[in-house]
Amino acid sequence: MYPDPNSRSAQLFERGQRVMPGGNSRVGVMFEPYPLYAVSGSGCRVTDVEGVERIDFVNNWSSLIHGHSNPEVLDAIASQSQRLLAVGMPTEVEIELAELLTARVPGVEQIRFSNSGSEGVVFALRAAKAFTGRAKIAKAEGAYHGNADSIEVSVAPSPKRWGDEHAPNTVAATEGLTDGVLRDSIVLPFNDVEASRQLIEAHAAELAAVVIDPVVSRMGFVQATPEYLTMVRDVTTAHGILLIFDEVFSFRVGYHGAQGEVGITPDLTAMGKIIGGGLPVGATGGRADVMAVFDQTKKPLRVEHGGTYNANPMTMAAGLAAMRQMTPEAYTRLNALGDRLRDGIRSALGEVGLAGGVHGCASMVALIFNDAPFTNYRELPLRRREAEMVYALHRYLLNHGVTIIPHGLMLLSTAMTEDDIDETVATMRDGMQMLVETGF
Ligand SMILES: Cc1ncc(COP(=O)(O)O)c(C=O)c1O
Repeated sequence: MYPDPNSRSAQLFERGQRVMPGGNSRVGVMFEPYPLYAVSGSGCRVTDVEGVERIDFVNNWSSLIHGHSNPEVLDAIASQSQRLLAVGMPTEVEIELAELLTARVPGVEQIRFSNSGSEGVVFALRAAKAFTGRAKIAKAEGAYHGNADSIEVSVAPSPKRWGDEHAPNTVAATEGLTDGVLRDSIVLPFNDVEASRQLIEAHAAELAAVVIDPVVSRMGFVQATPEYLTMVRDVTTAHGILLIFDEVFSFRVGYHGAQGEVGITPDLTAMGKIIGGGLPVGATGGRADVMAVFDQTKKPLRVEHGGTYNANPMTMAAGLAAMRQMTPEAYTRLNALGDRLRDGIRSALGEVGLAGGVHGCASMVALIFNDAPFTNYRELPLRRREAEMVYALHRYLLNHGVTIIPHGLMLLSTAMTEDDIDETVATMRDGMQMLVETGF
């Protein structure tokens, strides 16, 4: 049973805390009172150090689109590891993954690889600043784009600090950001067409880029409306501002990425997660004339993009094996499983008589115990009670064979079957019944 102070995970957490602040190296894997430590994974299931197996809807926060130990990915890694782990030379497999992605993604004529989604965003921002000669970037309130200083603002600002609804404050999401960084970041009210247009126009002369994630994970996978995306595309084009899509997370929605689904082509795209087949990856892609700032064959070099592990052959081989399996048919099947899960959870809510909203699209699902609709961060019904309910459900699921992101997010993998989804829905229904019976 979780939690259990005598469990091996509890002991490892205590041991980890002696040598690492917080016990480990990643804020997102923590939950109270201690995180579970993993030991192995196979297909759609992950096993912890106690030997407890659970259906995995975390999928390493989306990167494991094929779940664990996908045979093709493992074969690619094994054979690549026999030949070359890492090398101070370029390799053909890097070109192969670049060819696959440029062929699939409308806005990506050229691409360069790095090692995390954050780096993919960092180099998109730097390319935009170099290309335009401007210093500022704009991003949506409530959106997360990784660790880069200039974009780690207004990710989850409190009502006390968020400021005017139509012109949000730029609120540091972490300590350690300088005033200069805050001055160079403009925060847009997501999906508010007129207010965002006015803000972009007001800062147009200084804006290098507007960064948008078309399906925002931190906001219950709320989607940018077609009107919003059309406005952002038009106003950025009119003012020579670059439009960057951060598809690090949302790239998994379809064969041509999120931009293929929404039918708007950005100037630059940041990617990561699934394109590395489970190994660390990031990428920056876009218009060839903008990507030319990275061209090290031209003098002077405009943007230096280095990195000891950039396009390392292990990641490239794993990514290629993973992405080749993501055929249009694979997306159709995976996204149908997403629909099945959303429908199932909705029915379960109805059956037990709990108010709730089931959000998301494709293979991304979010459950919020509140049926209020929302289109942006401020409308997101995430009050204390809702959060406590979802944490209680998360704990119930852990004790009944399912693991989800503690905030109620679920990412599907191609390793899942309809039976896995149905089993999960049945367990969630029982968990919701428990919530009703315990008086939530
Ligand atoms: C939309 C988005 N952008 C960027 C990142 C950063 O990617 P990484 O964690 O690989 O640095 C994430 C990570 O979750 C993300 O969801």
